[in-house]
Amino acid sequence: MNLFDVYPLFDIAIESGKGCKVWDDKGQEYLDLYGGHAVISVGHCHPHYVECMTKQLNKLGFYSNSVINPLQQELAKRLGKICGYEDYQLFLINSGAEANENALKLASFTNGRTRVLSLEKAFHGRTSLAVEATANPKIIAPINANNHVTYLPLNDLEAWKKEIEKGDVCAVIIECIQGVGGIRMASSEFMKGLRALCDQYGTVLICDEIQCGYGRSGKFFAHQHLGVKPDMITVAKGIANGFPMSGLLIAPKFKPVYGQLGTTFGGNHLACAGALAVLDIMENEKLIENAAEVGNYLINRLKSENLPHVVEVRGKGLMIGIELDVPYKEIRTRLVKEQHCFTGCSGTNVLRLLSPLCLTISEADDFIERFKKVLA
Ligand SMILES: Cc1ncc(COP(=O)(O)O)c(C=O)c1O
Repeated sequence: MNLFDVYPLFDIAIESGKGCKVWDDKGQEYLDLYGGHAVISVGHCHPHYVECMTKQLNKLGFYSNSVINPLQQELAKRLGKICGYEDYQLFLINSGAEANENALKLASFTNGRTRVLSLEKAFHGRTSLAVEATANPKIIAPINANNHVTYLPLNDLEAWKKEIEKGDVCAVIIECIQGVGGIRMASSEFMKGLRALCDQYGTVLICDEIQCGYGRSGKFFAHQHLGVKPDMITVAKGIANGFPMSGLLIAPKFKPVYGQLGTTFGGNHLACAGALAVLDIMENEKLIENAAEVGNYLINRLKSENLPHVVEVRGKGLMIGIELDVPYKEIRTRLVKEQHCFTGCSGTNVLRLLSPLCLTISEADDFIERFKKVLA
């Protein structure tokens, strides 16, 4: 059997990792400014993470959601505390798309509506409703194109008001810092306006924090820079440092109904052990503060160095977009092939930096030197 060939691949096989470095099968070291799509939060193969996962695997890897799982309860308690949402409820699933799917479903169960508003350039995943809320017709199959979603411009509150005041909008789903969309940030005024409109018209406000959340922006959630509280928050990627897991944080006003949501794998013992280890490390090593400090340092250096081809640097913490005046393709490829440094991309002209949250100042300096060499 061959693999179903949907990924354009670099011809590199990564075999091992440590912190912000990875090594290929020929022993070549790479600086990882991408964290495998923003997934590696506490660094590759952190010893505490490896120890907790190993211990759990030796004890019990999986049992279903038909029995009490104390690890889920501990995770809900600790996550609520660290992110500032102690009164919210946690539903655990396995991927980002699934978290958004469940958020939209629960919103619709609650207010009985079917219309969704989403941002132009939004990315929310590849399953049924999540992909419909994703503003990319190339990945919406005819079976997913069900006219539930209207896409609207970022920070244009008037446009959103016109739709929400029709009174039929089930949910608004927003990444407060758009990832795939090119590292673009919602304004505080816009988000506060949306919050008020959602309250007035019974629309559910969902913040997709799958890429911009879990400490990446220098606060636990990106929306916490903007002074709003969503009704639901979706998290994934960094939550268990690469072990597949996601979560939906749900405001107290939503009441659970037995059987309405459910999953086989979600919140299993091994995933919870990984997520708890991630919280331990984030707290012990002050990784959110580190993301703020090193991220701001990197952003300031990128802005002040007057680098050729760089037209704009956007972002917060360790979620950084570098807009170029040329397509990113050659620069990104040369960064990997010649400078042994992984970065991400979005659109045609934006390089996206999403390093592990443990990036050091000297690794940030190292990246700038490598970047300068490919821009020269
Ligand atoms: C903002 C956002 N939402 C949702 C998703 C989908 O997550 P997953 O690929 O785990 O389904 C992604 C993935 O890149 C994302 O960046």
